[in-house]
Amino acid sequence: MRILGIETSCDETGAAVIEGPDQSGRVRILSNVVASSVEIQAKYGGVIPEQAAREQLRSIIPVVSEAIENCNLDAIAVTQGPGLIGSLLVGVETAKALSLIWKKPLIPVNHLLGHFYANWINDTPYSIPSFPCLGLLVSGGHTDLVLFGDHGKYDYLGGTRDDAAGECFDKCARLLGLPYPGGPQLAKLAEKGNPKAFNLPRPMVDSDDFDFSFSGLKTAVVNLTKEKLDVRSGKLPPSNLTPDLAASIQEAIIDVLVTKTVRAAQKHNIDQIIVAGGVAANQELVRKLKVQSEKLKVKLYMPPANLCTDNAAMIAACAAFNYHPLDKPLSLQSNPHLSLSI
Ligand code: KG4
Ligand code: ZN
Repeated sequence: MRILGIETSCDETGAAVIEGPDQSGRVRILSNVVASSVEIQAKYGGVIPEQAAREQLRSIIPVVSEAIENCNLDAIAVTQGPGLIGSLLVGVETAKALSLIWKKPLIPVNHLLGHFYANWINDTPYSIPSFPCLGLLVSGGHTDLVLFGDHGKYDYLGGTRDDAAGECFDKCARLLGLPYPGGPQLAKLAEKGNPKAFNLPRPMVDSDDFDFSFSGLKTAVVNLTKEKLDVRSGKLPPSNLTPDLAASIQEAIIDVLVTKTVRAAQKHNIDQIIVAGGVAANQELVRKLKVQSEKLKVKLYMPPANLCTDNAAMIAACAAFNYHPLDKPLSLQSNPHLSLSI
């Protein structure tokens, strides 16, 4: 089966064609195109929804055209939500129009579930996961732990009560005066710093649930550095302490993520963990998860960095394993509030 995936939940415009699943249970990428408006967002220090949607309107047809070149398609998959409504509308309405004209089945995909499916793509350097497995999603808008029993079948264990892990990376990076998108920049700076230099809180690390809270971490950094903050910009001027602060922030976020993930795997007697979402591109998170899972003899799966962040291949892959075409494609509505918790 060849599926065209379309992804426009945030500031990226993605289209990809995948083929599969094959006998080994993986899908293969035939094309994967992502157009990002990150340069414009960087200018303003974040995503301006209206502007992101306008850029997506401009790029959706060229991006889809490039992705489908010389491809015969069997179906179309599109991100239904969650995300920014203006952005989602661009992808969903385009997918509906293509489904109508080409007379192809249309499969709506939950973006959050889609992230996990990057682990079933053959660019991923590991064998594929089997069930049951524990899923950790760490993206810009979501931090969730779910227990998969099968494709598309999962129990929700917990998630963030406020900011997501990626959001915390981004907000702290902004405070440190780093350009958008802050997560990778903070991670880069952290390489040169001492993660033990600042004693930052690990919110909810000892709570006996699988929820997270990251909003207090930024406040803790503000309180710690109050005297040095520039009053007008609210940012810290660069100093030789900035790498230490970046490393300490990163370690606090990662400690909580790793501790809770490992605890969930132990509690549910799970020997496979799959990680997904933009923050899974963080090499220090990967390293710490590897150390812990080797200790526990748990097998760890995670996509390569380019498939951790938003892309349409994971959306098409999700549809290949959860093939539920709509009876009435034109009735599909974007849903900015879709979640994994039911
Ligand atoms: O999954 P994603 O591309 O978009 C959402 O669905 O939200 O995740 C984007 C998030 C951003 O917060 C970004 O700063 C973060 O992932 N991120 C990272 C790294 N690469 C991306 N955070 C920390 N370290 C990284 N290397
Ligand atoms: Zn995402």
